[in-house]
Amino acid sequence: MMGAAGIQMGTRFIATQESDFEPMWKQAVVNREERQTLAGRGLFGPMRFIRNKRAEEIVERTLEDAPRFYLGEPVESTEAILDLERSGFTDLMDGKEDTALLFGGEVVGRIHDLPTTADLINNIMTEAKMLLETIPGKVLGK
Ligand SMILES: Cc1cc2nc3c(=O)[nH]c(=O)nc-3n(C[C@H](O)[C@H](O)[C@H](O)COP(=O)(O)O)c2cc1C
Repeated sequence: MMGAAGIQMGTRFIATQESDFEPMWKQAVVNREERQTLAGRGLFGPMRFIRNKRAEEIVERTLEDAPRFYLGEPVESTEAILDLERSGFTDLMDGKEDTALLFGGEVVGRIHDLPTTADLINNIMTEAKMLLETIPGKVLGK
């Protein structure tokens, strides 16, 4: 409605029927609220994690080892941060929810279901069409 020519979505697709993410990860995306994520120095740069013990440890390590990360500066990762992430992947495979590494955006707060990707895309298109058709009339009058 504000002139976007497209949208970029990542987290939403984790929580779909066809996604091959671990069921625990999918469920975390569905269950968590907007403020239950944390950002830290990730494997490829800045990353946002669904909050759990592992995410908190990564944030604490980032604060300790690379504090300028939180001033928006590019920082190198450290072995200690990488170790936390590597074991986060292992714990993900082992189904350990507290210490699994779970990426996800703040948008988790707006995701409450596990649709098929077809239903997801169809609903987005239907809602977009409805808004584009009705909102201009509400603003400008008929
Ligand atoms: C599990 C996961 C992995 C991602 N990996 C990368 C990546 O390797 N490189 C990258 O540039 N963006 C990556 N992204 C970010 C997405 O490309 C996208 O920009 C972002 O997810 C959009 O925000 P949203 O998740 O709130 O929809 C990743 C996102 C998720 C959820």
